[in-house]
Amino acid sequence: MKKNILIAGSSGAIGREFTKFYSDDEDTAKIVTLSRKKNDFDHKKILSIEFDYSKEETFNNLDEILELESISTIIVATGILHTDQIKPEKSLDAISSENLKKVFHVNVFGPILLVKKLLPLIKKSQGVKIIFLTARVGSISDNELGGWYSYRSSKSALNMMIKNLSIELKRFNKNHTAIGIHPGTVKSGLSEPFLRFVKHDIFSPSESVQLMTQVISKISPKDSGRCFDFLGKVIGH
Ligand SMILES: NC(=O)c1ccc[n+]([C@@H]2O[C@H](COP(=O)([O-])OP(=O)(O)OC[C@H]3O[C@@H](n4cnc5c(N)ncnc54)[C@H](OP(=O)(O)O)[C@@H]3O)[C@@H](O)[C@H]2O)c1
Repeated sequence: MKKNILIAGSSGAIGREFTKFYSDDEDTAKIVTLSRKKNDFDHKKILSIEFDYSKEETFNNLDEILELESISTIIVATGILHTDQIKPEKSLDAISSENLKKVFHVNVFGPILLVKKLLPLIKKSQGVKIIFLTARVGSISDNELGGWYSYRSSKSALNMMIKNLSIELKRFNKNHTAIGIHPGTVKSGLSEPFLRFVKHDIFSPSESVQLMTQVISKISPKDSGRCFDFLGKVIGH
């Protein structure tokens, strides 16, 4: 049976590339894209929906997709590291309650509330893969540099949401899978201000998505709750 796929954050560098990848995939029937501004993708498979974590009323825009027969894959490719007002904190001095709330709102609360909203669709589907874009810097055991308090801790909290979700999903369907995936360092608006400091490989969005889609195709329910990198290696919490 052909697959229906949902991509949240389809306006982002990585989300856009996932959308292109699955548009070209013969096994994909329909792609629902969620973005703050409606996408301009011109493809008959794509249904584009306006959606913003910060505008509660836009959750109602998702009602129509709850009517789909089933969903195979949900990719949550939203996230913020910085905005015009927010800079990743280098030290405690830079932390503010307002910025912590904003970063957690987009990186943690939004993604899990989105999955809550989609639950009726997930429940009537078989073997759904729910993929959250996380980040290696969210790994507590991997943290040797410090800094980026809100981003790092929001991704750690997201990883816990993924673990919790994986446990709950198993209770009603053992065939569902929820994982986090680290895309590598990828050229995008999110990473752009920091790329000059990077000493390892930097991927284009297309290179990263090519690798991540291989990981996504191979994961199975036994992997649920874990976080992987773009090569499919487990990242410790
Ligand atoms: N790039 C990297 O090197 C890297 C590394 C590790 C992890 N990641 C993770 O990968 C994911 C995608 O990042 P990216 O590099 O593709 O960044 P990006 O190009 O900045 O894309 C971020 C996406 O999040 C959306 N977004 C921001 N605020 C939102 C809100 N309030 N409601 C709904 N959507 C919102 C953006 O929408 P607009 O287009 O409307 O702003 C955009 O679609 C993120 O979770 C990021 O943490 C990226």
